[in-house]
Amino acid sequence: DNYLVIMAGGIGTRFWPISRSHFPKQFHDVLGVGKTMLQQTAERFDGIIPHENIYVVTSEEYANLIQEQLPFLKDYQILCEPQRRNTAPCIAYAAYKISKINSKAKLVVVPSDHVILKTEEYQNKIKIALKAASEPVMVTLGIMPTRPDTGYGYIQFQPKAEDVLTVKTFTEKPNLELAEAFLDSGDYVWNAGMFIFSVKTFKKELNKHQSRLAEQFEEGMVLYYSEGESEFIKKVYGVCKNISIDVGLMEKSRDVKVVLADIGWSDLGTWKSLYEVHEKDENQNVIDGNALTYETTNSIIKSSSDKLIVVKGLKDFIVVENDNVIMICPKEEEQAVKLFVEDATSFG
Ligand code: GDD
Ligand code: MG
Repeated sequence: DNYLVIMAGGIGTRFWPISRSHFPKQFHDVLGVGKTMLQQTAERFDGIIPHENIYVVTSEEYANLIQEQLPFLKDYQILCEPQRRNTAPCIAYAAYKISKINSKAKLVVVPSDHVILKTEEYQNKIKIALKAASEPVMVTLGIMPTRPDTGYGYIQFQPKAEDVLTVKTFTEKPNLELAEAFLDSGDYVWNAGMFIFSVKTFKKELNKHQSRLAEQFEEGMVLYYSEGESEFIKKVYGVCKNISIDVGLMEKSRDVKVVLADIGWSDLGTWKSLYEVHEKDENQNVIDGNALTYETTNSIIKSSSDKLIVVKGLKDFIVVENDNVIMICPKEEEQAVKLFVEDATSFG
């Protein structure tokens, strides 16, 4: 009765120029390990969830990429969204659809673009979470925070010597002041962005806190797995709320649990976070593709074609070649990538 729902609809713009809206980072082999992030995400569930129980929710335009990268998926296991409505509708679609064929289903909902270095530990935590989800609770994975990052959700838990802890509060993306206070207090962890629950519990919670969304997806019950599904979904997405599960449900729900997980997790949001987890050469460079480096240290040199990149005298730089773009930027100024993405649109 266990199902995996992979959310793969994001565009990952901070990883430009590798991550492009027509080819976002989850479909790349970002770590240079011979598998894409999506493929790794699915593979982590080998032995826990059978292939026929894996569903991927994504934009229509990525359906072919997903089919190529996960060839074992049948058409009906790829849920196409006509537009981006954030994660609450994305998860609702999967939950209602799966509940039609298995009302006892438990879902493990995961992003497609995270790094997890300790697979075995991760699998253990997932098993614990799945067991906990037999109760009417929403289960999350909590990561020990290392900095007051405002890009994450924060989970306040009741400290206890048990695997599954009661959650007191859930705060999505707090401001810096709050994040610092959370970090100091010691009883907060980062939300890893993964959710484990039975479809029954999810429906109950959605009805309670986002009743309109619940109604909208419930209406399609007779149409899921039929010809009418995509027409119905187009209609719903045209009118439904744009809201994340974090704000829409997790902050509001009274029945949240957390499993603390030391799993080598990184949400791989930026070039610097990639630098931290990627294998490096003797000069502390991340080299991916064909490159010759001289007196170059602490840099990322990445070529996605067969072009040879030759650099000399660089320290703490990002040099990335992909498609028709070459980006050269100091590592410390990676937040400028956002600006590059916007300005580059005029070049197509
Ligand atoms: N199918 C689909 N449709 N997928 C989506 C959509 C959508 O409209 N929007 C986002 N996703 C996918 C993204 O590709 C990603 O894999 C996942 O859902 C989470 O979305 P993000 O946009 O990356 O969320 P976030 O990183 O800002 O915040 C979430 O993750 C953090 C951990 O990385 C939250 O859950 C935070 O609380 C959490 O700390
Ligand atoms: Mg994210």
